[in-house]
Amino acid sequence: SSSADNGTTSHPNGTLQQLPHILIIGVRKGGTRALIEMLSLHSSVAAAQNERGLPWYLSQMPYAFPDQLTVEKTPAYFTSSKVPKRIHQMNPDIKLLLILRDPTERVLSDYTQVFYNRLQKHKRYQPIESVLVKDGEINLGYKALNRSLYYVHMQNWLQYFPLESIHIVDGDELIRDPFPEMKKVERFLKLEPQINASNFYFNKTKGFYCLRDHGRERCLHDSKGRAHPHVAPAILQKLYQFFHEPNKKFFELVGRTFNWK
Ligand code: A3P
Repeated sequence: SSSADNGTTSHPNGTLQQLPHILIIGVRKGGTRALIEMLSLHSSVAAAQNERGLPWYLSQMPYAFPDQLTVEKTPAYFTSSKVPKRIHQMNPDIKLLLILRDPTERVLSDYTQVFYNRLQKHKRYQPIESVLVKDGEINLGYKALNRSLYYVHMQNWLQYFPLESIHIVDGDELIRDPFPEMKKVERFLKLEPQINASNFYFNKTKGFYCLRDHGRERCLHDSKGRAHPHVAPAILQKLYQFFHEPNKKFFELVGRTFNWK
């Protein structure tokens, strides 16, 4: 393949490696994998298979036909304060997708992710309640809490991008009933309506929706849709309370509410 100076790399079969037109910026554990897989059902979308760190490497982008839109996901972008400026410098017209779920649920999912990462390395992790609580109060030093303070991070993005450039996918709804959420994504991206109700079927064994693409059925990896640890109701209640005000601030910021506890 040869390099051009317009941010593309050409390939003999007529496909190109192009910088992303669409970016899934997070949130970590929001359902970013489900979103990119479901978006890939559309023939006009080419998705990067691997997540990348900063900076962007063109070589990682998929080979896409010139009329296809390329999409990549990097869940850590949403909570990285330096990223909005850099992305804006690269492409101020980029379309951003942000998938959020109930902040408390996201914290439990975040904990579960770290728990299994450690397990793989044969390391232990403290029980959930001892990371969540310190001296009888919510442990403000626990980083996963900060990642669920959505308004803090959203403010950073809104300094560089108008609200119209950022579509928020309701991650809880994407779990409950993916098709309507994906229709909204299609509309936001001005794609020809193509994603169909029959692209989704509920898999009882997995307990989640799976995908049907040209007759081929597949679910997300086992690491997606894991059981979360049990947390005492009193602690859960404290967490819900903790997020109450931050959530309200977020709703005001984006002019929209979500069904968070
Ligand atoms: P849990 O495993 O904690 O339930 P990400 O891809 O950003 O890491 O997000 C992972 C989360 O996506 C999962 O968190 C799961 O709840 C959610 N998810 C949404 N739709 C899903 C689907 N169809 N299958 C599996 N997981 C899905």
